[in-house]
Amino acid sequence: MKVVAVYSVKGGVGKTTTAVNLAWEAAKHARVLLWDLDPQAASTYLLDVKPKLKGGAEALVRGRTKVGQAVRETAFEHLDVLPADESYREVELALDHARHSTQRLAMVLGDMAKKYDVVVLDCPPGASLLAQNIIRAADVVVLPLQPSPLSARSLAQVRDIVHAERIRPTVLGFISMADRRKLAHRTAIAELPRVEKEMTDVVVPYTVVVERMGAERAPVATFAPQAEASDAFARLWELTASTLKLRPRGKR
Ligand SMILES: Nc1ncnc2c1ncn2[C@@H]1O[C@H](COP(=O)(O)OP(=O)(O)OP(=O)(O)O)[C@@H](O)[C@H]1O
Ligand SMILES: [Mg+2]
Repeated sequence: MKVVAVYSVKGGVGKTTTAVNLAWEAAKHARVLLWDLDPQAASTYLLDVKPKLKGGAEALVRGRTKVGQAVRETAFEHLDVLPADESYREVELALDHARHSTQRLAMVLGDMAKKYDVVVLDCPPGASLLAQNIIRAADVVVLPLQPSPLSARSLAQVRDIVHAERIRPTVLGFISMADRRKLAHRTAIAELPRVEKEMTDVVVPYTVVVERMGAERAPVATFAPQAEASDAFARLWELTASTLKLRPRGKR
């Protein structure tokens, strides 16, 4: 089982959007669980699952909830969700009080290794104990960066967090919410991959098609397969799968 964390210290950069679309891409060839770790429960909502976590987040991270009982199926084949709810607001405290506080997520994930090939983590922003858990559990960190001069700073912050670990996940950065009408965006799109080694060539455009996910409650490629954004997420998954050395397409 491989773990993909969609993570940034920064909020509102497209993490949830990316997690949902990557999970759907992955589910074409693998058994996938999307674990929503954010009390906003946005990815739970986007996949049309009720935002209710049986037993709450504390019992889950402390290993008192059987993960299998909390997981929900989605309308999409091979794609399940471990939903979030308000109880994640207290998750920092729960982790802080638990033994092995930086490895709780990895321990919970251990229980799911037989059932899933890929777990995608939809992470809240921030550099907390939860973030440390996420980095420790992840094989790959997928990092959305808005094309602004500040994005180099987000990348540096995530790099610092990853480098503090003994076993480091691979960081795959990509440009999220790009508006090519803006000069600053065009400049960042050209410059970032040139100067930052973690950057892939993936550019997800800022588009109403992606916004429609909220109304459709579905991944973008299911209702707009021809959209540039759908292609970009497919390419991002291809790069992620190849980093993870997952088996070739068509095989599960
Ligand atoms: N490529 C895009 N084009 C247009 N809108 C987008 C795009 N990506 C994300 N959005 C919109 O921007 C908002 C923030 O996106 P999203 O929720 O994915 O970010 P996030 O990083 O998960 O935020 P948070 O830090 O609050 O969890 C959402 O309303 C989403 O629909
Ligand atoms: Mg989010």
